Amino acid sequence: MERLSSMYEDRIRCAAVRGKVTSAAAAAALIHDGMRVGASGFTRAGDAKAVPVALAERARQEGKPLRITLMTGASLGHDVDRTLTEAGVLARRLPFQVDKTLRDAINRGEVMFVDQHLSETVEMLRANQLGKLDVAIIEAVAITETGGIVPSTSVGNSASFAILADKVIVEINLAQPLALEGLHDIWIPGRRPNREPLPIVHPRDRVGAPVIEIPPEKIAAIVITNMADSASTVLPADEETEQIAGHLIEFLQHEVSRGRMPARLPPLQAGIGTIANAVLAGFVKSPFEAFEIYSEVLQDSTFDLMDADKVTFASGASITLSAARHAQVFGNLDRYRDRLVLRPQEVSNHPEVIRRLGLIALNTALEFDIYGNVNSTHVGGTHMMNGIGGSGDFARNASCAIFATKSIAKGGRISSVVPMVPHCDHNEHDVDVVVTEQGLADLRGLAPRERAVLIVEKCVHPLYRDMLRDYYRDALKQGGQTPHRLERAFSWHTRLNETGSMREETAALA
Ligand code: COA
Repeated sequence: MERLSSMYEDRIRCAAVRGKVTSAAAAAALIHDGMRVGASGFTRAGDAKAVPVALAERARQEGKPLRITLMTGASLGHDVDRTLTEAGVLARRLPFQVDKTLRDAINRGEVMFVDQHLSETVEMLRANQLGKLDVAIIEAVAITETGGIVPSTSVGNSASFAILADKVIVEINLAQPLALEGLHDIWIPGRRPNREPLPIVHPRDRVGAPVIEIPPEKIAAIVITNMADSASTVLPADEETEQIAGHLIEFLQHEVSRGRMPARLPPLQAGIGTIANAVLAGFVKSPFEAFEIYSEVLQDSTFDLMDADKVTFASGASITLSAARHAQVFGNLDRYRDRLVLRPQEVSNHPEVIRRLGLIALNTALEFDIYGNVNSTHVGGTHMMNGIGGSGDFARNASCAIFATKSIAKGGRISSVVPMVPHCDHNEHDVDVVVTEQGLADLRGLAPRERAVLIVEKCVHPLYRDMLRDYYRDALKQGGQTPHRLERAFSWHTRLNETGSMREETAALA
């Protein structure tokens, strides 16, 4: 191994840890049944790629219980969650995932999934509310002379996992460019009750260290990998997402003309997924110039906007790109590096900074109701989709919290605007604006009865507009601050379960 490690002197510059280079299987042997493990990875970027897979392989071969609690930044790539699920390794998983196999296991009750605001996981760990972290597995591009870990394409929760775990396994990924070094800004909050303010006052501020600083003796193993991040799965913009972008741009122009927003927009945050990415990409054609992004995941759209000279700076916790964009961005990192910073997710999603910067936050809903309550996570109110992610961190604290969705899903069998959401992630108190391809409803300063009228008239698909008008008229007979017919409130979801469609006429035909 000594000879092997000397081949990687530019990647492992700390002589004291060079002898720790080992195989993924040997590193995975440090993980035992019942342990809590923190792994790097945020929206498929910078994830630990070899050791979790070796752990799954061991579980399959040994055939005896090997079940762990796995915490990450957010979602993993390379089917790692699927592989771990199929091997029966996941007893508990937090705080976010996007894997179909894992999702099904969660919904069968086989994996206990803790759906958390992404800013809170390491805060809870630090306060010893989630138990002791046994092992951290962190993907890195290098280990510096003094043992500092240089993360790769995400920071996520990696820094706090490395600091809080008993042992640290580092995966040095040769496929991740060394040019990533210097892009990160690692700031870790002090312990309560004497914590200092988080001193970010502009998205471009650097307030921490460029590496994760831990005592080198905590590094228990180093594994060499050579595998690119999984490409993002977002779909390109379509007619509806372009219409949503159009409504939003018009709304923001109106805000500027009324003097409620500066002509140079406040920093933008955009959530994960196809819709947020496509809508943000729509800003390329907007009249807005020289704005900044203070977000969580930087997707293709961030780089589209930089290339169009619209965005002057972007701060995030990870970079997740399509295959086409990947080579173009990481092959020309010098072109972007002065305009980028990657931070821990508790900093990118920090309430104090979001409120101070006055962010415009754009996230995606599965569905919202006539009063502006939003369901982002539970299909039909019961089945987990992905998790709340950072959407709650941003919505609660943004100066303008916007939720977008297409007005219908599954070919029109589902209306994304419903009488009452059967699961509420963002309540009416946090939601300022809702928008579909049909139109936009600005809910600020409106009472529930005013919100309902606006949402029904502006956002609902024509297939469902009369049904929702009818529901609201009937609910008004019941009275109240927030009128509802509770016996009818979930009838749309019930009908979907029973007939395959929320539509009344379809139900009559079935
Ligand atoms: N009921 C059931 N399914 C619905 C639905 C509804 N009301 N609305 C949409 N869907 C389905 C779509 O049909 C699609 O299904 P498919 O995968 O089988 O094609 C799927 O949900 C994804 O919808 P899509 O329209 O492609 O949107 P998206 O890729 O932008 O994802 C969320 C939307 C809500 C799932 C996604 O944004 C998410 O997980 N959000 C929560 C986390 C978050 O906001 N993080 C950001 C913080 S920075």
